[in-house]
Amino acid sequence: MDKIDTLKDGKEVTIRELSIKDLDRLMLFYSALPVADRKYLRVDVKDRKIVEERIKLIKTGNVFRLVALFDDEIIADGALELSAEEWRKHQGELRVIVAKPFQKKGLGMIMVRELYFLAVEKKVELVVVKMMRPQIAAQRIFRKLGFREELLIPDYVEDRNGVKQDLIVMTCNIKDLWKELEHFYSDSDWQRCR
Ligand SMILES: CC(C)(COP(=O)(O)OP(=O)(O)OC[C@H]1O[C@@H](n2cnc3c(N)ncnc32)[C@H](O)[C@@H]1OP(=O)(O)O)[C@@H](O)C(=O)NCCC(=O)NCCS
Repeated sequence: MDKIDTLKDGKEVTIRELSIKDLDRLMLFYSALPVADRKYLRVDVKDRKIVEERIKLIKTGNVFRLVALFDDEIIADGALELSAEEWRKHQGELRVIVAKPFQKKGLGMIMVRELYFLAVEKKVELVVVKMMRPQIAAQRIFRKLGFREELLIPDYVEDRNGVKQDLIVMTCNIKDLWKELEHFYSDSDWQRCR
């Protein structure tokens, strides 16, 4: 079901599930991302085939995708990926990207909140985020939400330029994340969402 939320600058955005019909919109969103934001993503999001295949993964039942829209354009993309491995089945991995003109307006936090709701619904116990060391904004946000850096593997992944980067793994117990989000939204519409 679509949800409407308001950014810090007063703009109203719609949050809803991503579908295969959004492929063109999603390609437009990815192609407008600054190189600096695209550089650290794990796949080449300018490759339509790859993006299409990733949308189709929703059908497996292990991947959930949400988008935020403004004026019918995608302005943020979020994913919750449940582990298909038995020994990690209590884990859910979060990913969020916000379009540059909409950053620092609270949208990243709104997307994490909505992904959190999904994670609770899917009975996730441990929320995991993985990022490259230069993704400072993401690390700050997740730290703010109570995530802890549990692991740093030197030169473990390659960025889009083929440069080796350290991988940082942060985790948060779902109950602790609830507390932090509740604190964050205590004076806002968040109360009405509960
Ligand atoms: C990380 C990202 C999703 C944040 O989205 P956003 O919409 O700008 O985040 P918000 O506006 O909700 O900010 C949430 C908090 O993080 C802080 N923050 C946001 N961007 C920041 C930055 N560049 N540096 C420091 N702090 C930052 C803000 O201070 C804010 O706290 P506040 O409300 O107390 O001011 C966005 O920067 C992005 O898309 N980056 C590129 C992709 C990426 O790295 N994704 C993460 C992979 S999991």
